[in-house]
Amino acid sequence: MLSLPPIAVAASALPGRWQGPISRSGDPCRRCHSARRLSWSTAVAVASALAAPSVRHVLSRFVGRRSARRQSIALRQLGLTLLRSEGESSTGRSPSEIDVAQADDDGVKPEKPEISRYQRVENLLWEAWRNSERPRPPLKEVLETLAFHKACQKLLGSKALVIDAAGGHGAIALAFRAFGGAERAVVADLYQPRSFANLRAAWMPEDEDTERAVRHERIDISCPGWLKSLLEREGVHAEATAVVAAHACGGLSDELIRECTALSVEFAIMPCCHKKESGRRRDMLRHAVKLLDIPYSVVLDIARLGVIDACPGYKASLRMIDKAISPMNRMLIGTRETSPQTEARADSRRNYVDKLAGKFRTIFSTSRGKHQELQEDSADS
Ligand SMILES: C[S@@+](CC[C@H](N)C(=O)[O-])C[C@H]1O[C@@H](n2cnc3c(N)ncnc32)[C@H](O)[C@@H]1O
Repeated sequence: MLSLPPIAVAASALPGRWQGPISRSGDPCRRCHSARRLSWSTAVAVASALAAPSVRHVLSRFVGRRSARRQSIALRQLGLTLLRSEGESSTGRSPSEIDVAQADDDGVKPEKPEISRYQRVENLLWEAWRNSERPRPPLKEVLETLAFHKACQKLLGSKALVIDAAGGHGAIALAFRAFGGAERAVVADLYQPRSFANLRAAWMPEDEDTERAVRHERIDISCPGWLKSLLEREGVHAEATAVVAAHACGGLSDELIRECTALSVEFAIMPCCHKKESGRRRDMLRHAVKLLDIPYSVVLDIARLGVIDACPGYKASLRMIDKAISPMNRMLIGTRETSPQTEARADSRRNYVDKLAGKFRTIFSTSRGKHQELQEDSADS
């Protein structure tokens, strides 16, 4: 369990805004209760993060490079996540109970918010990761995985099969399985790192048939048709499948979009390495970048969203994870529309063009009328 003095020491060593509200002996906080709790949470979180040597390296990267606001967001996010796992594992109580109970030394009774099922699973995953064998995916990868999952889980829903394309350590596949978003999962990659087996052992209950539930398969996702043959081998329908991919490099993201839309499979892809593009499209995008003065990666991802949206029966969505976790933080999501949604979209398109045509018809008919009047007038005179 976290004890107060080291937290207070660590917190008081922090610059600026963390010092005032967290002082144990200082004036009672005049702000609202939640704000006070937040500052305590921040203090405890930062202290616990600083205390862990494995985290210091990551923190120093954030602290070194980002603006003050981003630093605080990054620190808080990292620390709070760690704190959650700390709280759940050591006491069986929720982290908010712990930080409030420990922080509240001047008699104000805080309310105890319920911990959601989602948070409980997240805490368990953190705990299991902390105790897992090495090599294991580093902290940044776990933060990214959980943020990725949170950002797209509702859109993708629950599937019979989730394919973690270019999945490497397979953390995303394992997270979908752990949160109940996949009956089983396949990590499709050319290479299987040792961290996969260690994370799988940590994140899957011992009594499960782990190899069947989440397995790594050597698949070249740049080969057209790989998804179709995988679905055939698995005996799963396209609509019961989702493809997820974090940091599918360069053109691999486009290949994934093509594979998925060809089969009507839903997907969530977080592209990276945008500059590795080549060919005619790169020239077109570079020209657009120059004219519009916006970053290449933004233009490319928006163009990809347009491609998804133009696929019949697809709905394109953009989601982002915190930039402090990864600067390559845009997620392109393609979900299938229901028939009423497709009809509503077609109707609204038709209504729009009809209205536009109607407007021009009125203008032209009025001006034609006036033109005729003028001609008749001139003929009369
Ligand atoms: C940047 S890593 C991302 C790994 C993981 N998704 C993550 O977020 O950490 C890119 C991954 O793509 C895999 N990869 C590259 N080309 C591939 C291909 N043609 N087929 C399958 N996997 C590929 C690499 O082996 C590597 O694991």
